[in-house]
Amino acid sequence: MHNDDIFVIQGGRPLKGAVTISGAKNAAVAILPATILAQGVCVIDNIPQISDVTIMLEILRFLGAEIKSVNPHKYEIDTAHLRSQTVPHEMTKHLRASYYLIGAMLGRFGSAKVASPGGCDFGIRPIDQHLKGFELLGAEVSYEQNAIIEIASKKLIGSQVYFDKVSVGATINVMLAAVKAEGLTVIENAAKEPHVVDLANFLNMMGADIWGAGTDTIKIRGNKPMRGCDYTIIPDQIEAGTYMIAAAATHGDVKVKNIISKHLESLTAKLKECGVQVEDGGDWCKVSAPNPFTCSHIKTGPHPGFPTDLQPQMTVLLCIAGGTSTVTEGVWDNRFKYAGQLLRMGADINVNGQFASIEGVGALRGAPIQADDLRAGAAMIIAGLVAQGETRVENVDHVDRGYEDVVEKLKKLGAKIKRVTPAPVQAATAG
Ligand code: EPU
Repeated sequence: MHNDDIFVIQGGRPLKGAVTISGAKNAAVAILPATILAQGVCVIDNIPQISDVTIMLEILRFLGAEIKSVNPHKYEIDTAHLRSQTVPHEMTKHLRASYYLIGAMLGRFGSAKVASPGGCDFGIRPIDQHLKGFELLGAEVSYEQNAIIEIASKKLIGSQVYFDKVSVGATINVMLAAVKAEGLTVIENAAKEPHVVDLANFLNMMGADIWGAGTDTIKIRGNKPMRGCDYTIIPDQIEAGTYMIAAAATHGDVKVKNIISKHLESLTAKLKECGVQVEDGGDWCKVSAPNPFTCSHIKTGPHPGFPTDLQPQMTVLLCIAGGTSTVTEGVWDNRFKYAGQLLRMGADINVNGQFASIEGVGALRGAPIQADDLRAGAAMIIAGLVAQGETRVENVDHVDRGYEDVVEKLKKLGAKIKRVTPAPVQAATAG
């Protein structure tokens, strides 16, 4: 795999068959650093094979973890001999979730030095609520040169932490530190995403005492002894949603297996509004779209709202739905950058800040386009599958961050897609 690989897609074929969903990226990138708190051996199963996970495993090895692969999706992680040390920018720059190392190391060692996190670019991504939470637990935060976040505490003490904004990252990070704080921590206005609940379940398996995850209020009775455990990560609701939308948008007929359908209720409701048929089997669903789509109105928000991480993919479907649809982005400032790519394919989208208005067009046409970020990349693949003719998608390393075997999974569904490494450009010879 090369960073400048492209996807070449011949569109216009309905997806048909079955696809199996991998483990959840955003749960894995929280649970892997949480093993730091175990000071023992954790065996984690259903880990997706994606580049964000590879980077997180590299960082854990750098910190001194011993990691054995039991199979490609199952790892044994021994954090007994970990050393606290500075995690440099080269390691954190591609991975937003590197900020979970702050909470986990603060909990284990009482201090952490971690370079500012990278990740997808959709406007300013502050971490003020994470830092506020750590400070309320008694930590002191300072910044070193090169944007290294340095944090230390003589003793973490349980506290009441109210978040001004619902944040997945801040909720998870404060939970990681609070399991080692003396006494009771109460997190108010907590995020309710499935991966927040998955992390709480994992920490409880290690010996923590957390209750209320999945509601607005999470309570943590801290400083319990933590030990290694065996744990299986939940299925990825965003990968599942991406295949559901791809199946619908291509007027296909696909069984999406290994899901928790409860996590996908907002998407299922919106697909049905558009005229898509969704059969719910609990741990699978079947999506088929024999009829033309009708327009819809989407507003993204924290769980159980419509996930922002499915917004670009759903916008592609709305591009070919009859009538005028609207999409309001309620989480990120700047998540419509990809709209320019869809315009090149003949879509009719008008973006104004966090609001997009979409006039349905009969069809999209293939074009050379690029993946601006991870979910935008998934949306570009769907656009290519829907479009007439050939679409070439550049910057597919963004997609590698979060979708396991996307080309193979789509090929099995009958898509014509291949990954191509462009030939190196020959240096011009003089004379
Ligand atoms: N926010 C603050 N202050 C903070 C933290 C967040 O103002 O301290 C704001 C953000 O600017 C944003 C909102 O709160 O407007 C929500 O941000 P959140 O903290 O929930 O996002 P995150 O934890 O950085 C995770 C996922 C994202 C997903 C968002 C929202 C991970 C590693 N990332 O990000 O996933 O978009 O939650 O659901 O879990 C993706 O997988 O493609 C992805 C970007």
